[in-house]
Amino acid sequence: MPGVVVVNTKPYDGQKPGTSGLRKKVKVFMQENYTENFIQSILDANKNALQGCTLVVGGDGRYLVKEVVDKIIKIAAANGATKLLVGQNGILSTPAVSCIIRKYKTLGGIVLTASHNPGGINNDFGIKFNCSNGGPAPDHTTNEIYKLTTTISQYRIVPDLVCAVDKIGVQTFNVEDRQFVVEVIDSVKDYVGYMKEIFDFGKIKTLLQGSEQRPPFKVLIDSMNGVTGPYVKTIFIDELGAPQSAVCRVTPLEDFGGAHPDPNLTYAADLVNTVKNGDYDFGAAFDGDGDRNMIIGRGAFFVTPSDSLAVLAASLAHIPYFQRAGVAGFARSMPTAAAVDRVAHAAGKEMFEVPTGWKYFGNLMDAGRLSLCGEESFGTGSDHIREKDGLWAALAWLSVLAATGKSVEQTLVDHWKQYGRNYFTRYDYEECPSDPCAEMMQALEKRITSPGFVGSALGRYVVAKADNFSYMDPVDQSVAMKQGLRIIFEDGSRIVMRLSGTGSSGATVRLYIDSYEAKDVLGSAQEMLKPLIDVALELAELPRYTGRDAPTVIT
Ligand code: G1P
Ligand code: ZN
Repeated sequence: MPGVVVVNTKPYDGQKPGTSGLRKKVKVFMQENYTENFIQSILDANKNALQGCTLVVGGDGRYLVKEVVDKIIKIAAANGATKLLVGQNGILSTPAVSCIIRKYKTLGGIVLTASHNPGGINNDFGIKFNCSNGGPAPDHTTNEIYKLTTTISQYRIVPDLVCAVDKIGVQTFNVEDRQFVVEVIDSVKDYVGYMKEIFDFGKIKTLLQGSEQRPPFKVLIDSMNGVTGPYVKTIFIDELGAPQSAVCRVTPLEDFGGAHPDPNLTYAADLVNTVKNGDYDFGAAFDGDGDRNMIIGRGAFFVTPSDSLAVLAASLAHIPYFQRAGVAGFARSMPTAAAVDRVAHAAGKEMFEVPTGWKYFGNLMDAGRLSLCGEESFGTGSDHIREKDGLWAALAWLSVLAATGKSVEQTLVDHWKQYGRNYFTRYDYEECPSDPCAEMMQALEKRITSPGFVGSALGRYVVAKADNFSYMDPVDQSVAMKQGLRIIFEDGSRIVMRLSGTGSSGATVRLYIDSYEAKDVLGSAQEMLKPLIDVALELAELPRYTGRDAPTVIT
């Protein structure tokens, strides 16, 4: 019978979860006891609930996932956990973890991913705790975990427990007279089954294969060598009958083939070029752990995530899940353009603006007030789970296109003609020196909150409101402060600036620009927004503080 060993340890600084879990360089996680400390702290935060309960464990297949899955099994066994559901070979997409937590009513789950950050021994790793609703732990839980990491002195482990995570099935162990069960599950089955309940696969299949009324609709789906590969193959090839040539980069790799697995115009440029130069009606890409999505149409027509959210909000009636469940409110993160607000207003639905990070949507969904939400950072999802869901978004788009018979571009043009258009762009300045960026944000906050700023004119824009965004959750009244500087102008245009909470080193500055046009809807976002971008760069003195004269990524 394998025995429990108690190991003495010391706290590490900085194990504070950010926007989405604890994210650091792989080599930071490889330090002695670093990972063990954090896992023990997660379990300690759930101490009173561990016995008799189940936890889900899985990750995006990046470097270190397998080793950490093994550590979690051994540490959970020593801490009196009753059962773990582990994805085969440690593979589960983030949306699949959320789906499985909810389906099997588990205590929660541990997700091993640094999402869209690069992988491999010199890149990033991450650990995130999700609660019993399937969503990322709220601030009070992550704060509790963090507090435990600052005082930890011991962790418990069963070093000799050997679990075969490559074999689907139940393995039972005896640990100190208790039974500990690990059930290794098929990584894709539950998730794919759920997608088949949510969508009408028959209709999507007819769209892809063509019919008497319509030629085949040609798609190209790019998994960027992230975790969605097996899910994409099962859904698109086995279920929807698409040809092999409709999918690419579907083998999960520990280093994502050296690519940056973030589905945007810069890092998914291969997909964009192939669709632009090829005979494709639709392209989609997903990030490392499968929760982000990018949607493009014929000729690589780009759908901004803010618009994608608004179009889906206006089209949910085409999706069986919403036909059955009905549609409650909509929500977006604060920096996301307000296109969806117009749909909510027209439909008489509640609309919520929350801080950046998916964890802020969960309470609203649990309270039955929120059906569909999204973030400008390529996140779209619904209350079917409590994470954003890349594949879900692609299937939602295909369901809408199957029903309307329109192209992606026509869908957007018609939407803008009806609701007007929120032009949007985001500039990212990645891995800048931290101190000057912190100084820049302080100086900007001081400037925009000083007397006389509201009412002043910046170029042709008159300031109507300026603050550091704070949010009170309408369900539990918890408050999140300092969630980003925003300047709102009299015509509704906005400049938003915040520092990223997901980077593993240095500071990443994000600048978001949003401007509404009722009639002039067919322009280029970069041209239309140029005057406001210039105002923002000058106001924040961004080039001076960051030492950069151009952003790393423009969306
Ligand atoms: C970024 C995005 C945010 C998203 C998060 C996790 O966080 O901006 O919308 O929820 O990744 O995918 P940030 O790095 O800006 O803190
Ligand atoms: Zn992700």
